[in-house]
Amino acid sequence: MASEIVTSIPLTSLPRLSQGKVRDLFSLPNGEIPTLLFVTSDRISAYDVILKNGIPTKGSILTLLSAKWFDVLSSRVPGLKHHFLHLGPPSVSGLVTQDEKNMLRGRSMTVRRLKIFPIEAIVRGYVTGSAWAEYEKTQTIHDLPQPAGLKRCERLPQPIYTPSTKAELGDKDINISPDEARKIVGDKYASRLEELALSCYKAGAAYAEERGIIIADTKFEFGLDEETDEIYLVDEVLTPDSSRFWSKADYQVGREQDSFDKQMLRNWLTDNGLKGKEGVEMPPDVVESTKGRYTDVFERLTGNSLEEALKGLEN
Ligand SMILES: Nc1ncnc2c1ncn2[C@@H]1O[C@H](COP(=O)(O)OP(=O)(O)OP(=O)(O)O)[C@@H](O)[C@H]1O
Ligand SMILES: [Mg+2]
Repeated sequence: MASEIVTSIPLTSLPRLSQGKVRDLFSLPNGEIPTLLFVTSDRISAYDVILKNGIPTKGSILTLLSAKWFDVLSSRVPGLKHHFLHLGPPSVSGLVTQDEKNMLRGRSMTVRRLKIFPIEAIVRGYVTGSAWAEYEKTQTIHDLPQPAGLKRCERLPQPIYTPSTKAELGDKDINISPDEARKIVGDKYASRLEELALSCYKAGAAYAEERGIIIADTKFEFGLDEETDEIYLVDEVLTPDSSRFWSKADYQVGREQDSFDKQMLRNWLTDNGLKGKEGVEMPPDVVESTKGRYTDVFERLTGNSLEEALKGLEN
């Protein structure tokens, strides 16, 4: 049920392929193309650590928001291919039980199973976070020279592609230059990945800005269909977990901005000396306010309430 907090995914009818900080991936029976069931839990991480309790409805918010973005970006980024096939598991009778179906409703999607490029395709439209720290020291961002005199959180003259390594669970991603990313993914794919990441960011940022949200930066992942040699946009897309969202109405250059999603949680963790500690349980007010932020961003970006979006789903 959508109202229950799902921190571990109780699905035994399908083989589990892997578990990340937020998602569990399940294998699906072979069809025409390799697919998998991409399931988003209500787990939340902050400062690279997963909290003990979850945020109710977060899995559905991230899933339905990504689905919306696949639709929006397909129509705005020429030639874009993406992994999303449909919400929920395939409608094959007996594939999953009715209880599993209910649990998966709104939080799962069937996607193409692809070979993931081992980089995080980050795009930045504004200078903040680790990019600001680097800029202050060397006037570069991921080793790329930048104009002088930029202020904290200022909009960059052009969005820039600033990849990082994709670390194993528990490790930290490392910021790298586009040249280093080229060495990792190979000459054949590097330019196209950069071009796709920038185009998706620009299209997404323009769409969000019309709805009062600034996308300061975001992380995309891409995968390769080895049969056809085509690149696909994969993973979650332009969600509050993968992006830094700011309220356009509150934005002011020259100072830190409150980010839309985990700010309350991060503040609570640092104020209580719990930053980076394992097994921390959030109190109800932090859970509620964080849920409120995620819901707000969902409604602004999709123009629909989560309740309505869930009602609109089949079965
Ligand atoms: N179409 C796809 N085919 C195969 N794997 C995919 C596909 N789309 C996304 N993935 C992978 O699924 C995982 C999603 O899980 P989750 O978001 O919880 O991971 P994470 O904690 O962000 O950690 P990491 O991304 O570093 O593994 C990611 O590893 C991502 O690369
Ligand atoms: Mg992820």
